[in-house]
Amino acid sequence: MFEKRALPRREVLYLGLSSLIGVIANLVNKTHEPSPPDPLPRQEGRIRGAIATRFGIRIAANAKVAESSLKARAATKGLIYGAASQYKTLSSNAAFTRRFLEECAILVPENELKWGAVRPSSDRFDFTQGDWLARFARKNGLLFRGHTLVWHAYLPDWFRETVNRQNAEQFLTNHIETVVKHYAGQIHSWDVVNEAIYPPDRQPNGLRKSPWLKFLGEDYIDLAFRVAAQADPQAILVYNDYDIDYDTREQEAKRKSVLKLLERLKAKKTPIHAIGLQAHLSAAETRFNPNKLRKFLEDISSMGLKIMVTEMDVADRELPYDYKIRDRRVAQVYEDYLSVVLDEPATIAVLTWGLSDRYTWLSKHRARPDKAPVRPLPLDRDLQPKLAWHSIASAFDSRSLTVF
Ligand code: XIL
Repeated sequence: MFEKRALPRREVLYLGLSSLIGVIANLVNKTHEPSPPDPLPRQEGRIRGAIATRFGIRIAANAKVAESSLKARAATKGLIYGAASQYKTLSSNAAFTRRFLEECAILVPENELKWGAVRPSSDRFDFTQGDWLARFARKNGLLFRGHTLVWHAYLPDWFRETVNRQNAEQFLTNHIETVVKHYAGQIHSWDVVNEAIYPPDRQPNGLRKSPWLKFLGEDYIDLAFRVAAQADPQAILVYNDYDIDYDTREQEAKRKSVLKLLERLKAKKTPIHAIGLQAHLSAAETRFNPNKLRKFLEDISSMGLKIMVTEMDVADRELPYDYKIRDRRVAQVYEDYLSVVLDEPATIAVLTWGLSDRYTWLSKHRARPDKAPVRPLPLDRDLQPKLAWHSIASAFDSRSLTVF
């Protein structure tokens, strides 16, 4: 039987103090648009900041954020957190850049290292924007990722008329050698091959009918990794792909083909070190099966490969107009997915595909029919943390310390 009793004095004091802290925290954290209420345990960072203020401890202006930033929380658990961004954003929006540096430990150029950006013509390379981003990363102590060396998309216009069965190997090798050597020693990890599996194309081994497959056969994948490894022996070499997250027939088939590809590469001693899960998720998708994902990650890990979440975002296209409902669901998806992926000891990094809803490819690629601005990322358009930020923070915090 439960006995009704008064709360001990210590607890009353504690409750009183924490609501006072809550009020101060809210004042300190005025947001531009009304934020939905956050679940209490996730307010740790804010509360700590407020305590410092309340007792008059002088702290640097950004210490509150720095102390509890995503990168700091990730680092405590042996993880790297960061995001994709673009030259035009980081070179023009100082407030965004400041927030990027507060939250992120790694930067990946969203487009600037793709063929379409680096190859203005068949015999020229243009590294202007890539170099700017590499220097930005170096100057600010960020790790730097490379994305991507071999992909069927974002190819320059001249590619179609110029590259053929006879010269494809030369083009592939020369491109990888030149780009990887150019950034050698500065790169944390390279997405060497992007999106090579696509079972609906009905090719052997579930491979995508990309120009590279057409010209060179499946061996282009092994070749790409070998050339990259020679050009920069320090970089982590990654196979990166999407739609390997949900419990659907299509994604199950894709996971199977990806695993088989990785097994073939390992059997050939291809220098591959990690898989990149793009994790472009959809908030309306309910067919998430933690056990299936867990098993997939275990299979990858047992091949000796590391796991990186490389491009995470959560599209809210199919959700209702009310942004509070959307934010809650998007946050839930972040939490469900990351809690599984971070449970796997082989996972070493999480990157979101952008940091703020102001700059996301989904504004175009998954625009909402009602024209409401999309909200797929950790920060809102005014750089304020959303529930999704708190979900990521709490997923980092919850990672078991025995993991590494
Ligand atoms: C996207 C960029 O975000 C867009 O700006 C660009 O127009 C198209 O490419 N998978 C990938 C990324 O590997 O390179 C894509 O990036 C998103 C899907």
